[in-house]
Amino acid sequence: MINFRKLAGENIASLVPYEPGKPVKELERELGIKKAIKLASNENPLGIPPKSKEALISFMDELNRYPLGDCYYLRQKLAIKLGVEKNNLLFGTGSNEIIELLIKTFVKPGENVVSFFPSFSVYGIIAQANGSICKWVETDEDFKINFEKIINAIDENTKIVFLANPNNPTGTYFSYDNLIYFLNNIRDDIIVVLDEAYYEFVDAQDYPQSINLLNSYVNLFIMRTFSKAYGLAGFRIGYIIGNSEAIEMLNRVRQPFNVNMAAQVAAEAALEDHDFLRKVIKNNRDGKIYLYNEFKKLKLKYFETQANFILVNVNDGKKIFNDLLHKGVIVRFLGPKLAPYIRVSIGLPKENEIFIEKLKEVLEV
Ligand SMILES: Cc1ncc(COP(=O)(O)O)c(C=O)c1O
Repeated sequence: MINFRKLAGENIASLVPYEPGKPVKELERELGIKKAIKLASNENPLGIPPKSKEALISFMDELNRYPLGDCYYLRQKLAIKLGVEKNNLLFGTGSNEIIELLIKTFVKPGENVVSFFPSFSVYGIIAQANGSICKWVETDEDFKINFEKIINAIDENTKIVFLANPNNPTGTYFSYDNLIYFLNNIRDDIIVVLDEAYYEFVDAQDYPQSINLLNSYVNLFIMRTFSKAYGLAGFRIGYIIGNSEAIEMLNRVRQPFNVNMAAQVAAEAALEDHDFLRKVIKNNRDGKIYLYNEFKKLKLKYFETQANFILVNVNDGKKIFNDLLHKGVIVRFLGPKLAPYIRVSIGLPKENEIFIEKLKEVLEV
């Protein structure tokens, strides 16, 4: 009889799939409640940019056509905005697809990628599905990245190093000096991918403005997304910036119409919606200050964030996560290795208040 587990192979059969945050509607249905709030997936609480909405409405009648395979108009606009050439860019169905394309294109089965722990689990899932592995390098106290340890973990089979900056789920970041030290101390045939999914939220002065480094480090790549600050998570669109020859290799592997047309139209308009982006960043900054203050009052240790979420120590993350769920607040529990913590996305002021109110109830303070 056919054995599908065997057919898929051990690497697939033993994969632990990515667990997304629970959707609001699902929780409401399960618990028979209304007005649940979701602060679990670092989405944009302000919705989609008004300019994207307008552009989508005007474009609706053209959605019977296949998308532009090369994201022509979006590419043009983004290249100008970033000050790079058009052939330095590749778009994907979210940055998730780009992680997959990078691994498919450059990492052969048996080879490896390197990242630090805790970070974005998708690097490991895709590596394993590809027959390769992700070597996770432990961080130091308070999740500080130890670049020396990462340099030591790199071996002759390492093809890519993924560095999320700011990092998910900690919200912490590393500086320009750290990045330069790292780049100068690894082989120049290793691809370094800076995953800057939360770039737009950063306000740290010593955060690397990485685009300026692309000419000096041919092996450096920067990955960003429209899912977070630009509010387009449901459309699935992200991009990578880097050397044109490498981009050309990725282009050969991607599906011809990998980015749907609604996503292209929405993203292009989002780039023009400066007002929306300003509001998003202000909402995030204000929410962060509010939540820091509340955590201080509750004597909970939290990590200062450069992103749109906060990691906070509540002693028993799983219990607090479950108790909050039953009160209609969805946050994120991050598994047994991060047992004391929950991660909460910064929401609208009202959502942040409800979260704190319910948190106080479940902490019984
Ligand atoms: C660090 C990091 N990289 C990449 C992604 C994926 O984003 P996208 O929606 O573009 O696939 C996320 C999403 O949560 C993330 O936290």
